[in-house]
Amino acid sequence: MISTTQTFLNEVLSGLHQNPKTLSSKYFYDEEGSKIFQEIMDMPSYYLPRAELNIIQTQSLAIAELFRDKPVDLIELGAGDGRKMVHFVKKLQAKTSELTYWPLDISESILKVNKQLFEQEIPGILVKPLPGDFFQTLPEIKDRTHTRVVLFAGSNIGNFRKEKAIEFLKFVGEHLQMGDYFLLGVDLKKHPRIIRGAYDDPGGITKRFNLNLLKRINRELDGNFELKSFDHYATYHPITGASESFLISLEKQTVTIHGEQISFEKDEVIQTEISQKYDLPMLENLAVESGYQMDTIVTDSEKQFAWVLMKVTQN
Ligand code: AVI
Repeated sequence: MISTTQTFLNEVLSGLHQNPKTLSSKYFYDEEGSKIFQEIMDMPSYYLPRAELNIIQTQSLAIAELFRDKPVDLIELGAGDGRKMVHFVKKLQAKTSELTYWPLDISESILKVNKQLFEQEIPGILVKPLPGDFFQTLPEIKDRTHTRVVLFAGSNIGNFRKEKAIEFLKFVGEHLQMGDYFLLGVDLKKHPRIIRGAYDDPGGITKRFNLNLLKRINRELDGNFELKSFDHYATYHPITGASESFLISLEKQTVTIHGEQISFEKDEVIQTEISQKYDLPMLENLAVESGYQMDTIVTDSEKQFAWVLMKVTQN
């Protein structure tokens, strides 16, 4: 079996041999990266978590009402500690005839925290945590008698380019049947300056987040990136809705990773992240191309963020 470090190395080297050079944002989240992401979530300019919390606070009841008296399996992908979601699940538990909450996350320890919180806050709830990569754990859920609702919140789908997002929604769809749902948290298009501000803060927290990927490569893959010779650059395209982050090489230089040399021209870029923003036609299109039908869309009070409920129409 190929180790995770070997996969990381292979993906890093193949990405840096491409033109333009690319590194995957899924590698941002080592221990330090996860801590910096927490700092991002507390930044005044990073409106996403606040907007989603507003949806949870104001729209949970309306969504729960759609599942009145039904037995439901709520499967949350990348559930984390569940601090925000517990409010939604509480409302769902009150309306459904029977609710099982399946938090899926790579981290076993965070799922322990999650389960404890849910059992404490929602008496009688059945919590069945599944630690691991959800491409592996989702197929482990066998019972098909309840309506399944798969929840993927936090605008995480935005970190996939369109083809990957469709592939991902289709993969989940293979584990759903007619009448099941996908509930997707997405960030909406808005004034470009607001989006730029979320990904290019004056305090340099997002810059640290982006550069941490090079630090991780140095530590885990025996690299020698000089962090001072790379800069963070973020763009937003108001028509495509793509907010993209790059690392820019500030000089002509050669970097060694696990004995392999990679050369950079001055001002050469490494693509590191896309954070896709959607409008309604784009969401409609995403749903249909992935085998779902748009059911209900709710937003926060400022229409910054949306929860999109899509129904499975094909099997
Ligand atoms: C995790 N993800 C939804 C964040 C986003 O907004 O794309 C990651 C992030 N990157 C820079 N800031 C936050």
